[in-house]
Amino acid sequence: MTDRPDNTPVPADPTGIDAVAWRNERLDLLDQRRLPADVRRVVCEDVDAAIHCIRDMVVRGAPAIGVAAAYAAVLAARAQHATHGADWQAGFRTDLIRLAEARPTAVNLAWAVERMARVAENARGDPTEALLDEARRIHAEDIAMNQAMAKLGADLIEAGNPMPAAVITHCNAGALATGGLGTALGVIREAWRRGLVTRVWVDETRPWLQGARLTAWELGRDGIPVTVITDSAAAQLMRREPPDWAIVGADRVAANGDVVNKIGTYGLAVVARHHGVKFMVVAPSSTLDPATPDGDAVPIEQRDAAEIWAAAGGAPVGAEAVNPAFDVTPAALVDVLVTERGVAQPPSGRTIAALLRA
Ligand code: MRU
Repeated sequence: MTDRPDNTPVPADPTGIDAVAWRNERLDLLDQRRLPADVRRVVCEDVDAAIHCIRDMVVRGAPAIGVAAAYAAVLAARAQHATHGADWQAGFRTDLIRLAEARPTAVNLAWAVERMARVAENARGDPTEALLDEARRIHAEDIAMNQAMAKLGADLIEAGNPMPAAVITHCNAGALATGGLGTALGVIREAWRRGLVTRVWVDETRPWLQGARLTAWELGRDGIPVTVITDSAAAQLMRREPPDWAIVGADRVAANGDVVNKIGTYGLAVVARHHGVKFMVVAPSSTLDPATPDGDAVPIEQRDAAEIWAAAGGAPVGAEAVNPAFDVTPAALVDVLVTERGVAQPPSGRTIAALLRA
């Protein structure tokens, strides 16, 4: 990286949602806590505000967290340089550690922070422009990866069954979770455009309701028919009128192909296998983690029990709740992993390693 940035342009988000943006020299986020009732944005002036927004899920979804963290690193470097001049690096490194710890499971966060750290090591003088250029590159790459995955995934759907059919998804792996079309929802958007999708069944995704609030909102804007079901209704749906494919995103894919994604994904994969519904995971290479051997080695974020009790109107006296935000789907339950570099069919240590070499 040089001190003369090339000002990588970031293409427009094709959905117009712009979950993460860099505007007026600040990080500008669509507030996902409020959707669908309220479409509001939150502006982060400094890295602490960005860390708070990642923790509190103003911005969420593995790739979107990575892009937001990259811009947050720019805010950090700018402030450290303004305060400490040539001695900005030490404070910046501390900021990056805090940023990487904001949420533990999505590997895109650590991946983006590492990229920013590498650029910072070589920066001379004011690092702001060099870091902003790298953040823009991360953002632009994410948009391009979404587009490549959308085509590859839709090709698989078309090859399996050229007749229109229903699909099911879990959580939100769309524009709200990325810089562009989305991962799972990118494939679904492209398949819909090709006339291959009749309806999208969406698990509500307890307890934060990423499916009911975010995926239903996002697909509804595109005029794609959406039906929300409770997470526990997916098994009965598959028994009565099985969709062709279950299509989900990922927060981390371990070296052996195990997939860590929103809690409930594992259950959906078990039920899909039982009913012969094909299971597709769509994730960019920034979500692959060759340094982690398997899903059990991935830290699973535990969130506040209050998220669970909200639906019950409060906790009954003496009752406890645990709220793991993610689960592990063994590679053996995944029929195909789609990345921008190609597909792993099925994902395994061997096929993942081949993708990483590609
Ligand atoms: O807790 P969240 O909403 O950040 O969890 C998001 C998911 O689990 C998504 O499915 C995953 O990040 C893939 S997003 C393209």
